[in-house]
This record gives sequence, C-alpha cells and structure tokens, in this order.
Amino acid sequence: MKITPKGYSNIKNVDFNNLKFGVNFSDHMLICVYKNGSWGEAEIKPYQPINMMPGTQVLHYGQSVFEGMKAFKTVEGKVLLFREEDNFNRLNKSAKRICIPEIPKDIFMDGLHEILSLDADWIKEGDNFSLYIRPFIFASGQCIKATISDEYTFMIICSPTTTYYAGDMHVLLEQEYTRAVKGGTGSVKAAGNYAASFYPTKLAKEKGFSQIIWTDAENHEYLEEAGTMNIWIRIDDKLITPSLSDTILGGITRDSVVKLAKDMGIEVEERAISISELKEAHQNGRLKEAFGTGTAVSVIFIGSITLDENKMQLPKMENSYARNLKANLTAIQHGKIADNHGWTTEVESSVASH
Ligand SMILES: Cc1ncc(COP(=O)(O)O)c(C=O)c1O
Repeated sequence: MKITPKGYSNIKNVDFNNLKFGVNFSDHMLICVYKNGSWGEAEIKPYQPINMMPGTQVLHYGQSVFEGMKAFKTVEGKVLLFREEDNFNRLNKSAKRICIPEIPKDIFMDGLHEILSLDADWIKEGDNFSLYIRPFIFASGQCIKATISDEYTFMIICSPTTTYYAGDMHVLLEQEYTRAVKGGTGSVKAAGNYAASFYPTKLAKEKGFSQIIWTDAENHEYLEEAGTMNIWIRIDDKLITPSLSDTILGGITRDSVVKLAKDMGIEVEERAISISELKEAHQNGRLKEAFGTGTAVSVIFIGSITLDENKMQLPKMENSYARNLKANLTAIQHGKIADNHGWTTEVESSVASH
C-alpha cells in the first residue's frame, strides 16, 4: 500500500462540541482502482477531490454500494473497531448484487487499520464520540450505455461524529411508498435504495414526522424498517423485530441487540409484526417500547407511531429495554465492559508508516 501522509491536520478547524453528522472529514482517504480484471494497489493520501469525467458510469446508472461502520476510543486511548468483519462481508454481499467485483479482504482490512492509525486523533474519548467510517465502491469506468462497468473505485473516508440525544423519534407508518420489494435490492446497501427513499421521507418530514416506518410492498401490512434503521417493538416483556428477508437490511446493530438482549435474559422474537398486532397491543396497553437500531444512532427511542390520523403514543418506561441495550452496547464499543462476543478489534497505532 502506498501511503502519502498529509503532513499537517485539519482537526483544529473542527468544533467537536457542535458536530453535524457527516459533514466533516478526517485528514486521509483510501483509494483503490479495479481495472483490467483486478484490483490495483491501494493508496492512502490526504482527503481531496477525485477526478471524474461526465461519462462516468456511476453518475448515470447508480452502480454503487457502501458501508457504514464506527471506531471508538477507550479511556486508555486505544482505538476499537466494531464488527469490522461483518461490514466487510456485507459490503461484498452488496457488491455481488450490483455486479461490482468483490473487494479482497487484505485491501479492506489493511487499508482500514492504516487510515484509522493515521487519523486516530479524530476519534475523541467519551461515550458520545466516534469516527463514522464510510467504505464505498462505485463504477468509475466511462460509458453511457446502461451496462456493467469494467472499472471500479473503492474508497474509505471517515467523519467524526457524536450521538447526542435529540429527543424521541415520531414516526409515520408509510402505506403508499415502498422501500424494498421481494427480489429487489433492499437487503443490500445499494446507493439507489437511499435515493428512492428520500421523497417519501421528505413528505413525512413536511408533516412533522422524524422518520417513516416502511411496510411491506404487497399489502403495507407488516412493519419492515424505520427509515435507515431496523425496527423493534416491545410487547409486554418481549422484544420483537422483523425477521430478515430480501426486503430488510441485516443491520449489524440489530444483530448485536438480538444477542445483547438474550444475554440480558430478555426474550427476543424475530418474526413478522403486523400493523393490526401493533394497534391491538397499543390499545391493550401492552405496547411498552419501540426503537430503531443502526450504526449512526446506535439505539434511538420512538415516542409515537402514527397510522393515518391515529397517533399511538408510547409510554415512558422506568426500566427501558432500549435504554439498557444502548448503555450496554456503548460500554462494549468503548471497551468499558467485557466484549464477550469478540466484536471489537484494536487498531495498532504502530501500523501507520508516519
Ligand atoms: C436500510 C437500513 N437498515 C438498517 C440499517 C442499520 O444497519 P447497521 O446496524 O448495520 O448500521 C441501515 C444502516 O446501515 C440501513 O441503511
């Protein structure tokens, strides 16, 4: 791997007490190009613009996939990556579905560790801080025929982030638009999925909601996801999340929460949740909590769910499962409690060839 360190840092220009999600970038980026049937040498260099001709394929047909993952800093100053293997595997699962050549593990892992080692100062200590990492691959060949590209670019960029409590989410059950269909691309992180979700989300936001709960494409009867998060409800003392299918993204936070909840002795069911079940549980006072899970937010509370004109307000729970799960997950990610599942990997600072 070729490494060109920046030589100075832009970190002093960033106000870590007022971080907006996704708008600041760390000093370095990784870039690696696929041409003539193979991936070339990866290069780490200062974060900078990339050259692109107007005929570049990704701009026309959206042949692009991405990942979202995080690194954290422990109180001792160690850098911990959370479930890197899972993000790597999911990136290649997405790549395969979009006809993008898979990225070799050494390019992904070595590059990831190297960039984090170089940009370790961008990860602040403290439960709220993390570095959001965005690996992505796009069709960088030039051709405006709707066809598979023969050239691709893999990149990793990083953005410092904070998870501050911005209040509960108030969500709308979406019964007109659809995020994913059977046989579609909903279970992978294809860029186009997100473009298609913006319009219905914008409409919901204009009505004052924070997010949409997507429902199934056929009858809009079953809950699927909460925006770009997996959805969870608690009925009595049981946690329920929709089972994975080709219309649901297999969230890594979702999987972690399934396992943590079981560790905490909470009964978890992965199965279909219908709107009628949700309504009935709410009417009977059995709907105790609802929340979303995802890398960017970790666990986020849902304060109300609206179906047409019917707003189902959720109670404030004393012993909230969501709060306890979030606390445990955050503690594991920051190395404060034992990581019994082997989810965290330390980034060696010596890896960097400063
Ligand atoms: C559609 C969708 N669902 C769920 C998630 C949550 O996945 P994860 O927990 O791996 O971030 C994401 C974010 O990656 C997403 O884009």
